[in-house]
Amino acid sequence: TNKVSIGLLGLGTVGSGVVRIIENHQQELQHQVGARVTVEKILVKDALKQRAVEIDETLLTEDPEEVIANPEIDVIVEVMGGTNEARDYIIRALNNKKHVVTANKDLMALYGAELLTVASKNGCDLFYEASVAGGIPIIRSLVEGLSSDRITKLMGIVNGTTNYILTKMSNEGSSYEEVLQEAQDLGYAESDPTSDVEGLDAARKMAILSTLGFSMNIALEDVSAQGISEVTEEDLDYAKQLGYRMKLVGIAKRDQGKVEISVQPTLLPKNHPLASVNDVFNAVYVYGEAVGETMFYGPGAGSLPTATAVVSDMITVMKNMRLGVNGRSALPPLYEKQLKTDEE
Ligand code: NAP
Ligand code: HSE
Repeated sequence: TNKVSIGLLGLGTVGSGVVRIIENHQQELQHQVGARVTVEKILVKDALKQRAVEIDETLLTEDPEEVIANPEIDVIVEVMGGTNEARDYIIRALNNKKHVVTANKDLMALYGAELLTVASKNGCDLFYEASVAGGIPIIRSLVEGLSSDRITKLMGIVNGTTNYILTKMSNEGSSYEEVLQEAQDLGYAESDPTSDVEGLDAARKMAILSTLGFSMNIALEDVSAQGISEVTEEDLDYAKQLGYRMKLVGIAKRDQGKVEISVQPTLLPKNHPLASVNDVFNAVYVYGEAVGETMFYGPGAGSLPTATAVVSDMITVMKNMRLGVNGRSALPPLYEKQLKTDEE
């Protein structure tokens, strides 16, 4: 049989899930791709560390060159996080004509346009479905499923950690510190959870979603962000008594060509569809002028849900390789961006 070789950058929460899915769904992968999918090499920070997944130790390396410059490897999967090294490795991998799949929203929100251009110049795919809303296929839905429509509003709970914290504080009376620790233990939080709780992770995701939904190059600084670190158990109790639920909500609106994007703790009436999105679940509401209202719901973080999005991107890459085409990689042609100001 033919073989497609994968190089992983990272073997933490998401990387372990990717290894598990490749192993456990090998039959489905072979069926879809027409080739055996194998992991050739894995970059980690500490090769001697205990792993959550059983792995042949000879696959592990602390030298990025053994992955990004490895002639045996066809597809690089970046699940290490961070921006500087990840950006450098991805650019070098693309220049080495390797297709790339990433789960990294920090990177895509800051350098997405640059990286997609490098990919396109090299005739390579760069897919990033897992970067927004974990297991929900929202990027495909915007780029493919709704591409014929004019989207005017996106609204979402796009951070699993903060939704988990707010749900447990509100429903179980748990303390903020206790549930934040739980979210970290479950692998939902970023390595530095400040970006989750201060709304920055959600802002990055809203920048990516609005870039794709509105076909405008929305930068991270165009999104105003406030997190949940100041929300108290009393705030949540009062909200509940008044018939509301507090959620960290991202809202992106396009009105007469001008856009406005923000993330903040928001009181939602308890019968609002987003009010019943609990625990680590995420939901994205999309309003398009032709389609009307659509809603996407699913697990927003965690090992296997996120890895599902990563491996599905890998399948698209591998199908493209077989057909000798690239797809879904380039940014759509962008409109000129006009931000709504406070005075308007
Ligand atoms: P993680 O558990 O902290 O794992 C990171 C992995 O990358 C570890 O294996 C680590 O090596 C390796 N690594 C990190 N920096 C490295 C470096 N400089 N050189 C070599 N190896 C390095 O992180 P994660 O939760 O899997 O997240 C990975 C990415 O997916 C991030 O971009 C995150 O935002 C994104 N993401 C995560 C989730 C989620 O639910 N966790 C969901 C969607 C997207 P060691 O193991 O040796 O320390
Ligand atoms: N830390 C992120 C979250 C991971 O909690 O939503 C998924 O992107």
